[in-house]
Amino acid sequence: MIRPLVIIADDDQPLADSLGLLAERAGFHPLVAYDGLAALQLAREQRPRVLVTDLHMPGLSGERLVAEIRKIASLERIPVMVLTSDDSRPTRIRLLRQGADEFVIKPVDPEEFQIRLGLLLRQDEDATTLAVLTSQRILALRKLEKNVQSLERLAVGIIDALETADTLQDPNAGNHIRRVGLLAARLAQARGCQPAFVDQISRYAGLHDVGKVGLPDDVKWTRNVFTPEQREVMTSHADMGARLLRSASMPEIALNIALFHHERIDGSGYPLGLGGDLVPQEARIVGLVDTWDALTSERPWRTPTRYAFCEARSVMQSDILESLDPTLLGCFLEIEGDARAIKCAYSDRPSEPAVSGPHGP
Ligand SMILES: [Fe+2]
Ligand SMILES: [Fe+2]
Repeated sequence: MIRPLVIIADDDQPLADSLGLLAERAGFHPLVAYDGLAALQLAREQRPRVLVTDLHMPGLSGERLVAEIRKIASLERIPVMVLTSDDSRPTRIRLLRQGADEFVIKPVDPEEFQIRLGLLLRQDEDATTLAVLTSQRILALRKLEKNVQSLERLAVGIIDALETADTLQDPNAGNHIRRVGLLAARLAQARGCQPAFVDQISRYAGLHDVGKVGLPDDVKWTRNVFTPEQREVMTSHADMGARLLRSASMPEIALNIALFHHERIDGSGYPLGLGGDLVPQEARIVGLVDTWDALTSERPWRTPTRYAFCEARSVMQSDILESLDPTLLGCFLEIEGDARAIKCAYSDRPSEPAVSGPHGP
């Protein structure tokens, strides 16, 4: 086993030699120097694990030796023990400021010297282990960060693909998706949600109807009121969307939006008929803006086919008041001006009224 190297500097040669002997018996490999300059030279060349130095030496004093050692990058952290017969407070403070770790008062007690030497080494080993662990942890965190970034890029790619699939089926779906994303984010912001939540809802709200890609054409494209059978098939898009997103390893918030955006707080929604707080906040937010967007968009099977903004406001405040989260509705009515601006900026193509999409949102 390699013994840890200790440099012992003392101009009292018999003392330096006997300290070397004590260090050797304590398991160290000692190198002895009889003045400060020789000790500094040895330290530069040998890079010891511990330095022991007398305080008063001709040439380079112990105090200056410590100061010089601390300037050397490879030695700036090695434990230093100072031997001194001057135990005064000013000396101790000055040495601590210079970077000494330990004091032993002369005349040196052999056992105390050996114990303190061992403790200094262990302290150094603990610090080294900690430094290694810290750098390993930093490396692991960087790797994790990279993995998260590539997963996020993958998720964004999948979202784009799913949204494109919607858009290819319905020329107006692209703008509806954009609007619902923007409206949901704006409402979440107005509700005082955390920025990270706002960011997530803006990213995933557009996937709320992704399950419609699996619906049969006669349900998807009908311009008439649904038959009960068609309605049942249509309602399956929530469950289908959640399954699709789960298979694409999308986060829980995306699944909740797809599965629960037709749930209503009075329990009148689907697929489960959940009520109150059981409907996740993200689904309540998306459900509300999706409802408003549907009211203010062309729907050929209802009268009026499109509600004016003020009419939509009245409908939301009256007919469906029970089914929408009242706090969220209050927030939405406060930002309705922004919602109208978003609707105008991303309006449906006038020449191609929306024929697909939900009977309802
Ligand atoms: Fe839907
Ligand atoms: Fe929708």
